[in-house]
Amino acid sequence: MNLQDFTKLLRARWITIAVTALVAVLAAIAYSLLTTPLYEASTRLYVSTSAGSSAVELYQGNRLSQERVASFTQLLTGQTLAQRTIDKLGVSMDAATLQKRVKATAKLDTVLIDVSVLDESPVRARDIANALSDEFVVMVGELETPKPGAAPDARVVVEQRASVPSKPVVPKTARNIAIGLALGMSLGVGLAVIREVLDNTVKSRETLEEITGVGIVGTVPIDKVRRNQPAISFDNDTSAIAEAFRKLRTNLQFLSVDNPPRVIVVTSSVPNEGKSTTAINIALALAEAEHDVVLVDGDMRRPSLDKYLNLVGQAGFSTVLSGAASLSEVLQETNFPRLTVLTSGATPPNPSELLGSMAAKNVLSELREKYDYVIVDSAPLLAVTDSALLAANADGALIMTRFGQTKREQVEHAVRNLAGVGASLLGAVVTMMPTRGGGAYSYNYSYSYRHYGESKKSERESTPDTPEKTETP
Ligand SMILES: Nc1ncnc2c1ncn2[C@@H]1O[C@H](COP(=O)(O)OP(=O)(O)OP(=O)(O)O)[C@@H](O)[C@H]1O
Ligand SMILES: [Mg+2]
Repeated sequence: MNLQDFTKLLRARWITIAVTALVAVLAAIAYSLLTTPLYEASTRLYVSTSAGSSAVELYQGNRLSQERVASFTQLLTGQTLAQRTIDKLGVSMDAATLQKRVKATAKLDTVLIDVSVLDESPVRARDIANALSDEFVVMVGELETPKPGAAPDARVVVEQRASVPSKPVVPKTARNIAIGLALGMSLGVGLAVIREVLDNTVKSRETLEEITGVGIVGTVPIDKVRRNQPAISFDNDTSAIAEAFRKLRTNLQFLSVDNPPRVIVVTSSVPNEGKSTTAINIALALAEAEHDVVLVDGDMRRPSLDKYLNLVGQAGFSTVLSGAASLSEVLQETNFPRLTVLTSGATPPNPSELLGSMAAKNVLSELREKYDYVIVDSAPLLAVTDSALLAANADGALIMTRFGQTKREQVEHAVRNLAGVGASLLGAVVTMMPTRGGGAYSYNYSYSYRHYGESKKSERESTPDTPEKTETP
C-alpha cells in the first residue's frame, strides 16, 4: 500500500476513523467527569546551615545545605512526618495515604524545596501543606540539634505558605481529551486498515471484470433523489447520474456490434443492488435516444416497477402468462415518451416455472417484434432461479453490483447461476457508486466514445447546459 492508496483508504473509511475518535473522546470526557477532583496546595521551604563569617565558611555552609536538601526531600515524604501531620491536624487518614499525596522537589543547585499536597478539598490541601511544612521545621530542629540546648546545624524556614487552590489539578480534562483524540484517531486508522484488509466486497473495476469475465458497461453513482423518485427525467438533465445512464446506453450498443442485444434482463446477486432503479433508467435513457422501449417487471416475488412508476400493478406479466389477458391489454403507457411498461401482475405461486416457460419466451419474442428494446427487471440471482431463467429466454443479462456491498463470492455465485442455465452475461454495472470519498477511485475511468451512435437529440442534451452560459453576463 503506497501513500496514495493510504490517503484513499482514509477518505473512504473516514466514518470508521471519525466514530472511533468520537468514542475515544467521549470516553475521555466520561473518565474526566467520573474522576474525583483533586486540589494541590504548595509551600516552599528554605534550608540553611549555621554558617561562619568568612567567604569560605559561607560557601561551605551553602554546599552543606544543598547536600541536606536531598535528604530532606526524602524525609518530607516519609512516614514519620506524615503521621505527625495527621496527628496535629486530627484528620482521618492513614500515613501511607498522605505519603502518596505529598511531593517534595528540590530545585537544582539551590537550597529550596517545593512541597505540594493533593487533596479532595482545597482547604484541607492547604491545611495539610502548611501543617506538614510546620511539622517539618520542628522535625529538622530536633534532628539537627546535636545536644540539647545547642544551636542546630541546619534550619528550615517556610519561605512561602500554601493558599487555598482555586482550581483542581486532577482531572486534566483538556489533556485527557487530547490523549483520547490521538488514541482514537490512531485506533480508527488501525481499524480502517484492518477493515480494508478483511473487506471482500467488490470495489475495483479489475476485480469485477475478473469475476464476471465481462466488461463493465456502466457505473451508476449514488443519487439520493432516486430514493423518492427512481425515474430520471432525462429532459435537459445533465446530472452525473443521467450522464452515467447515457454512457451505459452507448456502451450497450457496442456490446455485440453485429447483433446488439435488444432483450436485456437486469439482474444482480442479492436484493437491494439497484436493479429496478437501474432498469427503469436504462429504459428511459434508451427512450431518450428515440428508441421505443418496453420495460418488463420480471421480479414476480417483489415487484416494484408499478410502485416506482405509479402504475397499476394488479394485471401484468403473470396475467398474460396465465392466459387471463392478452399482452396488449396489460401494457401500460407512461408519462415518459416512448416508454411502455409491463408490470409484474399478481404474484403467482410458481414464479420460476412461469418465467422459465415457453409462454414467457413467447411474450418476450412478441415484445421484441414491437419494440426496439425490451428491458426486464428481475429478482436476485442468489435467492431464486427466476432471473437466470428469464435471461436464458432473453439476449442476455446485465449484472448489477452494488459498490462496496456485494461480496466477491456472491458475484461469483451469481455468474455461475447464469452460466448454469446457459444464459449469456452481457456486461456488469456498478451501482450506487459513492461520489465523494476514496470510494470513487477505482471507477473513474471514462468512456471516451460515449457519443458514438447517439442521436442528435441526445448528443445535444448530454453536453453541458448551454442556457447557463448564456445567462452568465
Ligand atoms: N443510484 C442510486 N442512488 C441512490 N439510491 C439508489 C440508487 N439506486 C437504487 N437506490 C436505492 O436503493 C434501494 C434499492 O433499489 P432497487 O429497488 O432499485 O433495488 P433492487 O435491486 O431492485 O431491489 P430488490 O432486490 O428488492 O428488487 C432503493 O431504496 C433505491 O431507491
Ligand atoms: Mg427490484
